[in-house]
Amino acid sequence: MSETGGEGWGQSGNPTTVFAYEGHQGPEEGGMKNEGEMRKGEEEGQGKEEDEDYDSPPERQIVVGICSMMKKSKSKPMTQIMERLCKFEYITVVIFPEEVILNEPVDKWPLCDCLVSFHSKGFPLDKAVEYANLRNPLLINDLNMQYYIQDRREVYRILQEEGIDLPRYAVLTRDPDRPEECNLVEGEDHVEVNGEVFPKPFVEKPVCAEDHNVYIYYPTSAGGGSQRLFRKIGSRSSVYSPESCVRKTGSYIYEEFMPTDGTDVKVYTVGPDYAHAEARKSPALDGKVERDSEGKEIRYPVMLTAMEKLVARKVCLAFKQTVCGFDLLRANGHSFVCDVNGFSFVKNSMKYYDDCAKVLGNMVMRELAPQFHIPWSIPMEAEDIPIVPTTSGTMMELRCVIAIIRHGDRTPKQKMKMEVRHPLFFELFEKYGGYKSGKLKLKKPKQLQEVLDIARLLLAELGQHTDCEIEEKKGKLEQLKTVLEMYGHFSGINRKVQLTYLPNGQPKASSEEEGRESQPYTIFGHFYFCFIRPQDISPKSTVFGPMCSCKP
Ligand SMILES: Nc1ncnc2c1ncn2[C@@H]1O[C@H](COP(=O)(O)OP(=O)(O)OP(=O)(O)O)[C@@H](O)[C@H]1O
Ligand SMILES: [Mg+2]
Repeated sequence: MSETGGEGWGQSGNPTTVFAYEGHQGPEEGGMKNEGEMRKGEEEGQGKEEDEDYDSPPERQIVVGICSMMKKSKSKPMTQIMERLCKFEYITVVIFPEEVILNEPVDKWPLCDCLVSFHSKGFPLDKAVEYANLRNPLLINDLNMQYYIQDRREVYRILQEEGIDLPRYAVLTRDPDRPEECNLVEGEDHVEVNGEVFPKPFVEKPVCAEDHNVYIYYPTSAGGGSQRLFRKIGSRSSVYSPESCVRKTGSYIYEEFMPTDGTDVKVYTVGPDYAHAEARKSPALDGKVERDSEGKEIRYPVMLTAMEKLVARKVCLAFKQTVCGFDLLRANGHSFVCDVNGFSFVKNSMKYYDDCAKVLGNMVMRELAPQFHIPWSIPMEAEDIPIVPTTSGTMMELRCVIAIIRHGDRTPKQKMKMEVRHPLFFELFEKYGGYKSGKLKLKKPKQLQEVLDIARLLLAELGQHTDCEIEEKKGKLEQLKTVLEMYGHFSGINRKVQLTYLPNGQPKASSEEEGRESQPYTIFGHFYFCFIRPQDISPKSTVFGPMCSCKP
């Protein structure tokens, strides 16, 4: 867990991509990789000539879609972070217009490869889930978990299941039609919920996490009454009420009051290994919001303990929210999670904006670069270099040894090469336009049949006259004939002949052919045949294997 974010910028320091705002339609429909298309692509790939494989440049940018209410997607932290994210050479950011999110069916939403989407008031989470199911992008924050985040009962259940410390609590669920029929016994200085006693001070929270009307009840020894918290309005976040009785309609969580130093610790994760934390005055105190001369709420720096970093990691993973804000109460020598808010950025921190964009960008690249054929590895930063002092001076610390091991019994290449010089081959080469590029691939049954006919003819001639001028090696011609005669017919997919015109003689010998005499040819061109793997030969080709290892 890093509090400062140790990961580096993208390959390029220069902004090469545009931060696309509303109206950007993203990549072409055909560029979206749904499962069916991927499979189709793989099948096509099987017919590719091995020798032709190369690292092609990415066809297009990785598109990160921002799908949230406009207030959030146009917020200052989002803008700052996305501008930084766009500095990654291969990343483009597309903001989904709110009007499209609210009014258009999901198949009309922009396309993206990675989705940053989160619920806030008025956001159609169901549609976002539908979109994610349709397009299957990489999700920065899981969408289904966002239903749970809206319900404090679920949040507490998940925290408990993960073994994360939280205040002792009980849930009072009321039927709205019969609110009086519930498991609540109220005393002057305590409540009993489902048989569990909570002496004052205790906290009463609406089960709906969107409802910020949290009440804290004081004991009579402290004067009684309650503190009513609410969503900040100007300089106020709570107000004292003389009311000492709990609310009698609605469902609530009752929990023990944790005595802190008067501050809340706000934690903001960006993935399981990064968390920013800062403290703010608790709204439970007097309800007056502390602001600086610019009107910004005052924040106190916080260093998370190792335990708290572990809690941050657990919260991030348990709720599957890369970007996740939650509240910690430091009390009685422990830290207790009392609220998980899901997607939330730190405000007004350049360091956080930098770090957050780096972590997100690296995450996107790590997950998606391979499928986009982008050669990419997490860049090293000076602070990452593991230098350690030792008795014999400062040294690089050995962090790990990585071995990449593979077994040696490789499937033999089902491929054969031979030189051909007979005019019949040249005629065939010309007939199918081989001279245009100097290369020719024959896959069609008719074409393969023509090659077979030539091989048969030459072998017949060789059989009749030993002194004839056929230069092709008899052994090779026999191999060629045997392979082309296999299966009794040509299906067009399991064999291929490739011819290359070599006007100046033999190509450079491969290592296994080294030592062979090589001489320039001036009269005839040379052709190479190549048989690629027949898919139906298995296992470890017994037909091709021995033949392919046969040297001329
Ligand atoms: N068990 C507790 N003990 C002491 N104080 C608490 C407790 N639970 C909540 N508080 C105080 O009440 C505040 C509001 O509680 P909580 O964060 O659960 O509600 P919220 O309305 O969802 O907050 P947010 O605005 O972060 O969404 C906390 O920031 C904290 O100061
Ligand atoms: Mg809170």
